[in-house]
Amino acid sequence: MRSVKIPIEKNKEYEINIDNLGSNGEGIGRIDGFAVFVEGALPGERVFTKIVKVAKSYAYGKLLHIIQKSPDRVEPKCPYFKYCGGCQLQHLAYEEQLNYKTQLVKDALERIGNLDHVKVLQTIGMDEPWKYRNKAQFPVGLIKDRLALGFYAPRSHNLINIDLCPIQHDIINRVTELVRRFIQTYHIPVYQESTHTGIIRHVVTRVGFRSNQLMVILVTNGELPRKKEFVSIIREGLPAVTSIIQNYQAERTNVVLGRKNQTLWGSDYIMDAIGDLKFKISPLSFYQINPIQTETLYNKTLEYADLTGRETVIDAYCGIGTISLFLARKAARIYGVEVIPQAIEDAKENARINGIENAEFLTGESEAVIPRLSKLGVKADVVVVDPPRKGCDERLLQTIVDMSPKRMVYVSCNPATLARDLKYMAEHGYQVDEVQPVDMFPQTAHVETVVLMSRKDK
Ligand SMILES: C[S@@+](CC[C@H](N)C(=O)[O-])C[C@H]1O[C@@H](n2cnc3c(N)ncnc32)[C@H](O)[C@@H]1O
Repeated sequence: MRSVKIPIEKNKEYEINIDNLGSNGEGIGRIDGFAVFVEGALPGERVFTKIVKVAKSYAYGKLLHIIQKSPDRVEPKCPYFKYCGGCQLQHLAYEEQLNYKTQLVKDALERIGNLDHVKVLQTIGMDEPWKYRNKAQFPVGLIKDRLALGFYAPRSHNLINIDLCPIQHDIINRVTELVRRFIQTYHIPVYQESTHTGIIRHVVTRVGFRSNQLMVILVTNGELPRKKEFVSIIREGLPAVTSIIQNYQAERTNVVLGRKNQTLWGSDYIMDAIGDLKFKISPLSFYQINPIQTETLYNKTLEYADLTGRETVIDAYCGIGTISLFLARKAARIYGVEVIPQAIEDAKENARINGIENAEFLTGESEAVIPRLSKLGVKADVVVVDPPRKGCDERLLQTIVDMSPKRMVYVSCNPATLARDLKYMAEHGYQVDEVQPVDMFPQTAHVETVVLMSRKDK
């Protein structure tokens, strides 16, 4: 077999034109047709890059110098942008971020889903694409024996110490300041991944944008000393706090929250509202992180579901029942399915709080529970799925095909698995009618998408 000659060498410097952005927001250029990913470079730029890694069909280069700047390049707002792995696109004008996300979805549908002629609408952006996050999870650790609290550097577990993050709600920045004060005042040992020792691992903050309620969760490896003092510091510094929780995570794992919580002060949950519905949110329950765009996303889901009041609807991966309850008032009956028991407890309570009686919530994996519902004779007219990044299990897609609903609405946070699952549905009697990306995560390379599919009647 003839081996393909790689036209570049590691550690050498090259001048290249960048003509595209990759799925993680990296610039992509070519040297004799060979793809080179350069983090921080933008399409339309000519840059100097030093090759740091060469693989079979692509290479990674470090951005050394920009020879010709893109007109879309802007000054990043955050001083940590260069080092922190949280945002990838702060150097790109917001309008262009939206164009990039639309293209990202189109490319995934074409490349992975073989869906070339699908209507992908322009990504819906925010008027003010900053301070939008209602939840932060900051790792706590040491950098050269000094306390560090912030984010990990890209693709690593190297901590970056951060005082202020411009995509978080302001109050979240204040929480980190107080946690720092607690650790330093009482000399509480912080967690060290390499030795699995120390106590404080993460600080997680959740804030209700509409309710102004605030939950502070300290994730610990074992017991927390000075609990009373921790509560005092948080309550004095943040009189608006409604819930202070200790979460136990004693395992060697990347999963931030453990299963056990202890309420140190206040309520076990916070409340928030989306549209005219109120929601109860527990520490372990999923809740969309951008509440302003969530309303846009859910309204689009409702529009695509096109309910008349006579339909039976299944909402798979329902979390605390937010989409289910949004749709329930326009449907005859709705079933929400979710794997986290506490989220299902919240969903039931949320139905009660909002006076909704036609919603039933079931605990378990969608791919196990929905086939059982089908066997019991439940036939959905509309199915909504909103899975985690890995997408839907094929057993669930198979069950949906067998159930043969008129419409399926797919809400996705990962264009690649979305495209894979739409391909399956397109091969099994469904057509993609419309695709609407929504910018839930400004300044990052992530995009949320809502898709309407309908059954192709023979
Ligand atoms: C992206 S969230 C969507 C939640 C909800 N639809 C919302 O908008 O808030 C995905 C949810 O799926 C749940 N989940 C993960 N795997 C699951 C599975 N196999 N079956 C059911 N739920 C699952 C997660 O716990 C999480 O609540």
